[in-house]
Order: sequence, then C-alpha cells, then structure tokens
Amino acid sequence: MKTLWAYLLKYEFYNCLIFVFFCLIFINLKLYNKLSCIDKCHAFHLLKKQYYMAIINLKINGKDYPVDVDPQMPLLWAIRDFVGLKGTKYGCGIAQCGACTVHLNGQPVRSCSLPVVAVANKNITTIEGLSEDNSHPVQKAWIEEQVPQCGYCQSGQIMAAAALLSKNASPTEADIDAAMQGHICRCGTYPRIKRAIQKASETKPSKE
Ligand code: FES
Ligand code: FES
Repeated sequence: MKTLWAYLLKYEFYNCLIFVFFCLIFINLKLYNKLSCIDKCHAFHLLKKQYYMAIINLKINGKDYPVDVDPQMPLLWAIRDFVGLKGTKYGCGIAQCGACTVHLNGQPVRSCSLPVVAVANKNITTIEGLSEDNSHPVQKAWIEEQVPQCGYCQSGQIMAAAALLSKNASPTEADIDAAMQGHICRCGTYPRIKRAIQKASETKPSKE
C-alpha cells in the first residue's frame, strides 16, 4: 500500500511538472503573439545575443581587438562596424567582387564571406595597415598612375596587388591577370591597375 502511494505521488508530481511546462509554453505563445513585428525581432535578437554572442579576439594591423559578436558574423562587418576601420568596402557580400579583400596571414581573402570565429587571433591586414603614410610601393604606384576613378573597389584591388607582389616580386602579365581575376571595377580602371602593378613590381614591396 505504501509503495502504491509513493508511486501515485511520484506519478502525480511528474504530471504536474508536465502540466506546468505546457502552461508556460501556452502563456509565452500568447504573449509572443501580442508582440509587434519589431518587438518580435528584438526578442529574437536578445535571445540570440544571450545564447550566441562571444568575445572573439581579432588581430588587425598588429593590434588586438576583442569584439563581442555573433561568431558567425562576417569579418567585414566586424572590421567596419565594431573595429571602426572603414577602408575595407562592402560590394556584393557574396565573395564575387573583391571589394572587401583583406590579408589573412598574408593571403588575400574576401572578408564578407569569412565568419569572425574562423579568423580569431590570426593576422589580419586591412588597407589601413599596409603603410602608415601611403609609402607601400603599390600605393605609390597607384598614385603615380592615378588609378582610381570612383575609388570604391580600389582598396580591394590594392590589397590583392600587394598580396601578389609579396609572393611574386616580378609577376608576368599572365600572373597579374590570374591574381586580379574576380576583382571587379565597374569604372573599368583595369589597364591602369595593371600598369600600376607593373610599376610597383619594379620596387621591392615591404613585408607585412
Ligand atoms: S563584398 Fe566581398 S567579394 Fe564583394
Ligand atoms: S574605381 Fe570605381 S569601381 Fe573601381
């Protein structure tokens, strides 16, 4: 008899727990349905912030920047909106135009398509870190050849050119075409870009 009572009590206790659980879900759904779209959006972001944000250390141009962001945030967002370096540009957002190119451990990468979690503590160089006074050979050649038109794509072009010259000091025309492929310039400055790279190749680029 005692065991039967104990069993029933335990059984009722679990039933109560399940009942309370469903009541809470029901109340929350009722409250959630009363929220406006904007409030729902805020609620979602608060939840996301609570469960998915993390402090990630970005090493940019030799400095450490701990940022409290969603680990899946594209590196470009973090560079521009959290670190405040605006030289790297947003073009397509899908790794197709090259405007957002930065160096990752010396390699050119498209920052719009790299999550911050993948680049934590790795050496990132942006256009601001190429030189302090526009003295990098690529920057000098760019000025001498008056390459930019609207300028929007140019930091990506310069970063790609600098990466090429740091690996290959005397690139052929074919090497330049291969390295710069996929870096789109809607103003059509391609001939000046090529001339500037050839000019810069006559000077030894400084190492990052
Ligand atoms: S914005 Fe990254 S490749 Fe276009
Ligand atoms: S200079 Fe205008 S997009 Fe390249």
